Amino acid sequence: MKAKAWETESGFSRSISRYRYLAEDLRMPLRKERINQSDPSKTFPTRTLNNLVTENAPLQAPISVEPESRPRGEPRKRIHLASPIIDAEMKAAALSALENEMMVMGESVFKFEEEFAQYCGTKYAVSTASGTAALSITMQALNIGHGNEVITTPFSFIATANSIVHAGADPIFADVEDSGINLSPSKTRAKIGPKTRALIPVHLYGHPSRIDEFHDIAAETGLRLIEDACQAHGAEFRGRRVGSIGDAGCFSFYPAKNMTVGGDGGMITTNNEELADAARSIRDCGRDKNSKYYHGRIGFTSRLNTVNAAIGRVQLKRLEAWTQARRWLSERYRQELENVRDVILPPLERSTEKAVYHLFVIRTKMRDQLKKRLSDKGIEAGIHYPRPIHLQAPYRQMYGYTEGAFPLSESLSNEVLSLPIFPTLTEDEVIRVCEALKQSLAP
Ligand SMILES: Cc1ncc(COP(=O)(O)O)c(C=O)c1O
Repeated sequence: MKAKAWETESGFSRSISRYRYLAEDLRMPLRKERINQSDPSKTFPTRTLNNLVTENAPLQAPISVEPESRPRGEPRKRIHLASPIIDAEMKAAALSALENEMMVMGESVFKFEEEFAQYCGTKYAVSTASGTAALSITMQALNIGHGNEVITTPFSFIATANSIVHAGADPIFADVEDSGINLSPSKTRAKIGPKTRALIPVHLYGHPSRIDEFHDIAAETGLRLIEDACQAHGAEFRGRRVGSIGDAGCFSFYPAKNMTVGGDGGMITTNNEELADAARSIRDCGRDKNSKYYHGRIGFTSRLNTVNAAIGRVQLKRLEAWTQARRWLSERYRQELENVRDVILPPLERSTEKAVYHLFVIRTKMRDQLKKRLSDKGIEAGIHYPRPIHLQAPYRQMYGYTEGAFPLSESLSNEVLSLPIFPTLTEDEVIRVCEALKQSLAP
């Protein structure tokens, strides 16, 4: 009897199209062909990472990013929002890990953790399967859970709040700074109550939050401080890298981030040995140290795969150069857009800060119209995020939030527009985006 194809055509397209947003985010084409088991000559239509994701343009800054599959000088037809880089060394590292190491908890995982800790300036780093897992495992390692509250911002990716719920605690929101994008320390202080156990400021878009003030509040009130650094690899505050200032820092390696592991992944950074040990156990089924089938905790299977760690190690080597490129490109955007009416530029860095421009986000009341007009001109812009977390369905339902609860976050959601930024974007492309933006603003 002929084997039954394991997916019907309609089933396959349905499951693929459900994830279309990911392809758009990561510039990967989705093809409709299905796996045809009756004709083995037709192979699985893998997403062509090597062609598209490494389609790098020459860098204008003194940085080397390899390789180029697009002829030099030939302009991109469409300028995408992000463009993750997977180069030849990363592919070789992945293959070598696959051939020579244990697939789970192989040597590359421990080396990556060691190197990431060193990069952030912490004693320990514990890898996880995602940034969300890094956040919720950190809370669990700190014994934060049922009956506890954790204060955070409603203006972030939803995972920040989800991680609190995953840990069993309740998220309490405080609005953003009066003229900023990050959580306000004074509004946070006003929300502290008897059930509060931790604060989670987010270094949104790669801009450091007022982490010194949060540090003081946490020290004064005995609360834990967890940095959501998922968008801020390498950002600095008073010369210290984010992730090294609070009790712990949590990072994401989702492919559109400033560095990736070639898939989902996360990392917890800390100087607290007890926290690091607990996190290592929780991400690995609650195992006791050096034991296989003795479990002192109820943990998760939330490890970073060895192949991903091997890719992450090479990405980490490139990170400083990529950050330099992002900062340089942001400066060019500022120069081109500084006097444009109806456009508010991203917050300037204070002298104590170094931002890493995960996103370059402007504010404008004409946001939706601009996004559409830019798209018509071949430029992809993004909205991070069109709905603040407290107005997302589960948070409305669980906590009864309604419009007007956090007015500054709500107006940001109506006005923010992310312009393309990634290390291989060229100066000419920045100018093209800015010209298109200026034309699109005309009535
Ligand atoms: C601010 C913020 N927090 C948390 C996360 C969650 O990370 P991940 O997608 O790796 O679970 C993200 C990632 O998108 C993020 O941007």
